[in-house]
Amino acid sequence: MDATSPDDLTAAAPVTEREIAEFWQHHPCGNDQVGGLRGDYERFFRAYDAFRYAREGHILDCLDAIDFRGRKVLEIGLGQGADSEQIIRRGAIWSGLDLTPEAVERTRTRLELRHLPYERVIQGSALDMPLPDGAFDIVFSHGVLHHIPDIHAAQREIRRVLKPGGELIVMLYARRSLNYLLSISVVRRLGLIALYPFAGRGHSIYDQHVRNAREMGLWRYLKMENFLHRNTDGPFNPYSKVYDPELIGRDFPDFVRVKSYQRFMYAPPLPVSRLPLERWLGWHLWAHLRPRS
Ligand SMILES: C[S@@+](CC[C@H](N)C(=O)[O-])C[C@H]1O[C@@H](n2cnc3c(N)ncnc32)[C@H](O)[C@@H]1O
Repeated sequence: MDATSPDDLTAAAPVTEREIAEFWQHHPCGNDQVGGLRGDYERFFRAYDAFRYAREGHILDCLDAIDFRGRKVLEIGLGQGADSEQIIRRGAIWSGLDLTPEAVERTRTRLELRHLPYERVIQGSALDMPLPDGAFDIVFSHGVLHHIPDIHAAQREIRRVLKPGGELIVMLYARRSLNYLLSISVVRRLGLIALYPFAGRGHSIYDQHVRNAREMGLWRYLKMENFLHRNTDGPFNPYSKVYDPELIGRDFPDFVRVKSYQRFMYAPPLPVSRLPLERWLGWHLWAHLRPRS
């Protein structure tokens, strides 16, 4: 393991973009939840979309409420390209950008397989996009910007590529959520303390957390500035942040928040998906922002 590997938990330096890129390149978003891509793209995309939209059907409702027709849309952070397809099917003139070659390849393959029209799909960082000023009506980014440590630079760059009357639509993890306040902050920490003496040899996610904690030191690992990262997108995730409307105001100073709403009751391992509390305690905080004039 080299010093800059995302698996090196002893690294004290701030997380670099290279570490973040390596993590997503080797752990493409949602890949393992449907058994991984094993050559047959079409079969994989079908399984992935069925899983994604059965669990997170609210995404389709949220997309339905946005008028994409004839609008030039830039999507930042593509994962498996599932929402890209949905946005194109809703009439957008779509372009996409992702940090990793893997997400770009998967998204391009999906769109080609399904004969969907698009302008471009490129590899690059939200911090420095190879795109012209004022080119897009909408920048859409689902579950991505909370993984970018230099969020001030990212929001500046997003504002640059938006038309003056354009809109930034984001999904960020919610601080005021059952997942953050109860599951991650309390249940998972206590669970790790309980498992610590016994687990660590197997292949489960719990074993990996115990190995992480042994490598970093249990108490240090449990500190929220470490624990949050490792408890959002898997135990190797190098960086995550949680948001509320006030923090959106501070982290996106070039924008004005028009509206925001919470969706998705999710707080593993707690069985909360049927609780009617998503408006108040949902894990996904969607926000619509306009460039400040
Ligand atoms: C959690 S996945 C979300 C993907 C997709 N939007 C979804 O909802 O499934 C995060 C994605 O953002 C990409 N990403 C992370 N940092 C980025 C950056 N600085 N610029 C562009 N893409 C980035 C990762 O490569 C990964 O594909």
